[in-house]
Amino acid sequence: MSKEKAKPVLRSQAWFDNEGNPDMTALYLERYLNFGLSQQELQSGKPIIGIAQTGSDLSPCNRHHIELAKRVREGIREAGGIAIEFPVHPIQETGKRPTAALDRNLAYLSLVEVLYGYPLDGVVLTIGCDKTTPALLMAAATVNIPAIALSVGPMLNGWFRGERTGSGTIVWKARELMAAGEIDYAGFVKLVASSAPSTGYCNTMGTATTMNSLAEVLGMQLPSSAAIPAPYRDRQEMAYLTGLRIVDMVHEDLKPTDIMTRDAFINAIRVNSAIGGSTNAPIHLNGLARHLGVDLSLDDWQAYGEEVPLLVNLQPAGEYLGEDYYHAGGVPAVVNQLMGQGLINEDALTVNGRSIGDNCRGALIEDDRVIRPYDKPLKNNAGFRVLKGNLFDAAIMKLSVIDEEFRQRYLSNPSDPMAFEGRAIVFDGPEDYHARIDDPALDIDENCVLFMRGVGPIGYPGAAEVVNMRAPDYLLKRGIHSLACIGDGRQSGTSGSPSILNASPEAAAGGGLALLETGDRVRIDLKNGRADVLLPDEELDRRRKELEAKGGYAYPPHQTPWQEIQRGIVAQLDAGMVLEPAVKYR
Ligand code: FES
Ligand code: MG
Repeated sequence: MSKEKAKPVLRSQAWFDNEGNPDMTALYLERYLNFGLSQQELQSGKPIIGIAQTGSDLSPCNRHHIELAKRVREGIREAGGIAIEFPVHPIQETGKRPTAALDRNLAYLSLVEVLYGYPLDGVVLTIGCDKTTPALLMAAATVNIPAIALSVGPMLNGWFRGERTGSGTIVWKARELMAAGEIDYAGFVKLVASSAPSTGYCNTMGTATTMNSLAEVLGMQLPSSAAIPAPYRDRQEMAYLTGLRIVDMVHEDLKPTDIMTRDAFINAIRVNSAIGGSTNAPIHLNGLARHLGVDLSLDDWQAYGEEVPLLVNLQPAGEYLGEDYYHAGGVPAVVNQLMGQGLINEDALTVNGRSIGDNCRGALIEDDRVIRPYDKPLKNNAGFRVLKGNLFDAAIMKLSVIDEEFRQRYLSNPSDPMAFEGRAIVFDGPEDYHARIDDPALDIDENCVLFMRGVGPIGYPGAAEVVNMRAPDYLLKRGIHSLACIGDGRQSGTSGSPSILNASPEAAAGGGLALLETGDRVRIDLKNGRADVLLPDEELDRRRKELEAKGGYAYPPHQTPWQEIQRGIVAQLDAGMVLEPAVKYR
């Protein structure tokens, strides 16, 4: 226990042991007694620990938490607590239409209500699939009761004909193979399904592995917890240890705001570069920081993260998968490499009551094909470059996924090696893109830049992961795969395409992308962080007036009440896509 605090009065006593309000106490008691708990237990002064259950049949990535919760309960009981498990609004990345990101803030809101309104002294957050991690951490941040996260763990490695197939990532390759006529539809499905061989979240360094790793770096999980594959016995053991620990956290009154400090976020930014983390990480971490009242901006990502090298060799940036990551040492091994360079704020506190420095010091790399030592990285400068210009105020690009083909085609001018110009091809949402990408009339060539707009938090409610666009069939057949892409939406963390993402403000919020037309020339300067359409200001003004006369950039109608509610109050991607009115509640 790193800090001494007076033993808190348990908040659950206001429900179960409130002498000032005997009527309500009796009513609370009788209903929680009726599934087997006893009055003696509920009035024993033992911490009541919620288990926020994100697993269900609708959420296969997190479904294994239903099993793990049994071990969490045993840990809680053994440490002297009482477990109460309850469901969290499901968020399944691959199942929810129009996009799972729409539900991050809904799950956040509903979990805040549960944590605030029920007799819980602490909570175990069962995290895993992409948005479940930020949604649960954000809610714990707002209510600020002792909380500990437990990853469900990645799936086992996928295999196909002797090669690793990574979940999410393989679909991009499979699509290209099918477009090129090398596999048929049955082969396509078989190849894609091979990547998901067991329970657990995506085994690639997609948004799930990223966010689970960062939840550990932020200090919210026990050390080594993030990378253990879901079906391994170690995962069961971690569930038990997590249950044990949360009870002590309640006694110590160790809260999310004690742990998730700015220092912890800077650590997370640096580790995100070293692991090759998802471009969704800045959205979720910036949002989480806002709910905590921690000052964090997109510029911090470039300032602290850009120059950190890529150490983890996981798909999509590299070769390996989740099981390999665990066997190579997982998060502690990566943190220890960065600590050796003075890149970690070692005093940042974690859920076990010790600092991240104490937890990770000496953690060895067990397989240096998978986790590289700091002086033998896979790539240098693996973080994000922040771009600005007359098309948007902020967007990010993951420079580490720029491949040789892209480099040679776009970045080969010796006098201007990090800049290029191209003809804009503009799509309004994924449906428009799918309908027209192969249309020869667009005459897309290898120097074009593909734009996707109308896919931000308002335009495509929740912001779609569609900015990673493939080249048209006629270019794929010529061996041209990666065209430069820019958009106001997101990109799947499992995509390796070199895209400029998360452009804010989005077209639907009056951003400059709304003014762009197919055929315009654009200039991208990665060195100086600029992206501009090469048009005089007068022409942009004229287009803006014309757009405003039409009532602004049109987006599809609301399909559900939540879509309408969120569209009215949601922040842009650079500001974490949070619900603005929720930020002030701390
Ligand atoms: Fe759930 Fe990837 S789809 S973790
Ligand atoms: Mg995704």
